[in-house]
Amino acid sequence: MTTMQAVRIHAYGGPELLHHEDIPLPSLKPDDLLIRVRAAAVNPVDWKIREGYLQEFLNHRLPLTLGWDVSGEVVKVGPEVSAFAVGDEVYARPNIVRDGAYAEYIAVKASEVARKPATLDHIHAAAVPLAALTAWQALVDTAHLQAGQTVLVHAAAGGVGSFAVQLAKALGARVIGTASAVNTGIVTELGADQFIDYTKTRFEEVARDVDVVLDTVGGDTQDRSWQVLKPGGILVSILTPLPETSTAAPGARGAFVFVQPNAAQLASIGQLIDEGRMKPVIHTVLPLSEVRQAHALSQGGHACGKIVLHVAD
Ligand SMILES: NC(=O)c1ccc[n+]([C@@H]2O[C@H](COP(=O)([O-])OP(=O)(O)OC[C@H]3O[C@@H](n4cnc5c(N)ncnc54)[C@H](OP(=O)(O)O)[C@@H]3O)[C@@H](O)[C@H]2O)c1
Repeated sequence: MTTMQAVRIHAYGGPELLHHEDIPLPSLKPDDLLIRVRAAAVNPVDWKIREGYLQEFLNHRLPLTLGWDVSGEVVKVGPEVSAFAVGDEVYARPNIVRDGAYAEYIAVKASEVARKPATLDHIHAAAVPLAALTAWQALVDTAHLQAGQTVLVHAAAGGVGSFAVQLAKALGARVIGTASAVNTGIVTELGADQFIDYTKTRFEEVARDVDVVLDTVGGDTQDRSWQVLKPGGILVSILTPLPETSTAAPGARGAFVFVQPNAAQLASIGQLIDEGRMKPVIHTVLPLSEVRQAHALSQGGHACGKIVLHVAD
């Protein structure tokens, strides 16, 4: 077999520019794995790239296969790969500058891949890597969140937020989560100690002396977040670069995170999942043929958890 089905864009714009095509199988670099894609998650970065918002930052060449969350099975290993074998079940957040996982096969550098959590099927495993790694790199690597500290997670019912709440609890932190009232149940079930309905309450009027804010919303939410920080606190944004300091928060600092592939962290996340301390929340599962609907849903900005594309059984 030399060709496969993939969903690609040839130009930037709306969801109608997502095209199902027969294209050559990805060529394998010596340190790559070829993965048979079983499921791929949709993340907001997918439609942002599709719209062309990240052109200057990522410098993609078109046509481009989208989708940077994958769970599947290794079908071929490059000559320099020793850590994996054909038949291994794996998951990854592949490098975003290469072609993604809206396809029957994807080539991924072996060092970006970890074994799929044993307790998850491919649909649930595909929902994990990008969002959970983002939460990890924001809370652990950047904020150095410690047991006993308080963290405010914005959009706690979203893809990143739902993992951030669980990770913060696993680290022993006190968690405040924001979402609209319809998501009170899920945010509380994930472990939030305090829930703020952002549609009714200004979070800065009820959250105080916070050590870490995870900003997954940006704009006015980011600006107002400084006010809740204690001296020594940190505002970590995954939306936009932000000032290192603010007069609204003496002694606090700001940091921006853009998630990177990391197999070791994926393995640790998989362990937390297999221990029952973390789980993906799935908003909906759609077939790859409905990728345009999946993008429209993601772009709507109100998914509770992850949108997953079923690619193959
Ligand atoms: N820098 C990075 O590496 C990185 C990595 C991942 C994601 N991101 C970015 O981070 C953002 C979040 O990603 P995601 O995957 O978590 O998105 P998502 O799953 O699409 O987020 C949807 C959630 O946002 C909530 N929400 C919307 N407006 C809100 C507000 N004003 N306050 C609180 N919650 C609000 C919604 O809750 P309700 O329905 O209750 O309103 C919904 O549950 C996206 O812009 C994405 O591109 C960046």
